[in-house]
Amino acid sequence: MTHTDDFLPSGSPNVLETGKVGYSAPSNIALVKYWGKTSGQLPANPSISFTLQHCQTRTWLEFHKQALGTVSFDLFFEGKPKDSFRPKIQTFLERILPYQPFLNDYHLAIHTENTFPHSSGIASSASGMAALSACLMALEQQLYPDVNEAYFRTKASFLARLGSGSACRSLYGNPVVWGRHADVPGSSDLFGVTLPFELHPVFKNYQDTILLVDKGEKTVSSTAGHNLMHGHPYAERRFQQAHENLSELLKALETGDLDKFIAITESEALTLHAMMMTSMPYFILMKPNTLAILDRIWSFRRETGIPVCFTLDAGANVHVLYPENVRKAVLQLITGELVAYCEKGQYICDEVGDGMKPL
Ligand code: PMV
Repeated sequence: MTHTDDFLPSGSPNVLETGKVGYSAPSNIALVKYWGKTSGQLPANPSISFTLQHCQTRTWLEFHKQALGTVSFDLFFEGKPKDSFRPKIQTFLERILPYQPFLNDYHLAIHTENTFPHSSGIASSASGMAALSACLMALEQQLYPDVNEAYFRTKASFLARLGSGSACRSLYGNPVVWGRHADVPGSSDLFGVTLPFELHPVFKNYQDTILLVDKGEKTVSSTAGHNLMHGHPYAERRFQQAHENLSELLKALETGDLDKFIAITESEALTLHAMMMTSMPYFILMKPNTLAILDRIWSFRRETGIPVCFTLDAGANVHVLYPENVRKAVLQLITGELVAYCEKGQYICDEVGDGMKPL
């Protein structure tokens, strides 16, 4: 599957009047960051992420045959209609219509909820678009029973990308590469793929504790941020750097080289924010408490030799990453000191996980 045409359904569908499917999908955290895109939600550079386990969206899709000739849906978030989510879903369904033309023939009722607290500042678009895409593939599979598991996975990722780029990395287990890269056979700008080698055991149960520094709405959306990479003075060098960092990170993930893993992961996080600070208009999403946490993580690592590090997404929150065998010491640092920098002392303990699951 290398071309968008590979995702057009072929043959005639089964007769299907009504039904219900459900899938959960987790959030993911990028180690090499995607920042900058071209039309069709194609990434300007390859990225790689850990799929998480506990921060999930759970979505159920009810469908009723109703030949309307257009997409038609109701949307419920935690049991109540949610109008503010509608425009994004409307755009998404219209965008994927060429790849799932049968959506014109069904009215959809989408019921969705998150396992992580609402307004935690954690982007739910990745898990949300991934869970909905998995549900849509489950519907496609009922209509076209020759949809096999590999096609289901890849097309679910392909569809999710059209909803929110990074969502295409939330469908399967760890780690997921999105974007063409010379060292990852089969990698594609169209969907995420898993690694061609066995992950070193130290990363298999890696921990991610998310420190909720600021739970408010972001002042600049990631869509606006991606767009500011057009004409950005450092863009081309940055895109090249992402390729280089991904090559190095792949080696660290295979060999278990934690020093290399830490250096690349932290550099990527700061580079992402450096791109924001050097765009025009420029902006800063980190808060003073973000910097205080980074500073303390560095001094703690220096003092103890414990291989704990951070990454950041497009916001003020800090993802604290560490091997499972140092969990106790790192949680002591978090509960004893770092919670003071979190809004209402809140943080979420997560770890690497497996991706989508039927409900
Ligand atoms: O998928 P989007 O458009 O929300 O962009 C996400 C961008 C980052 O989270 C900052 C980086 C990444 O690779 O996930």
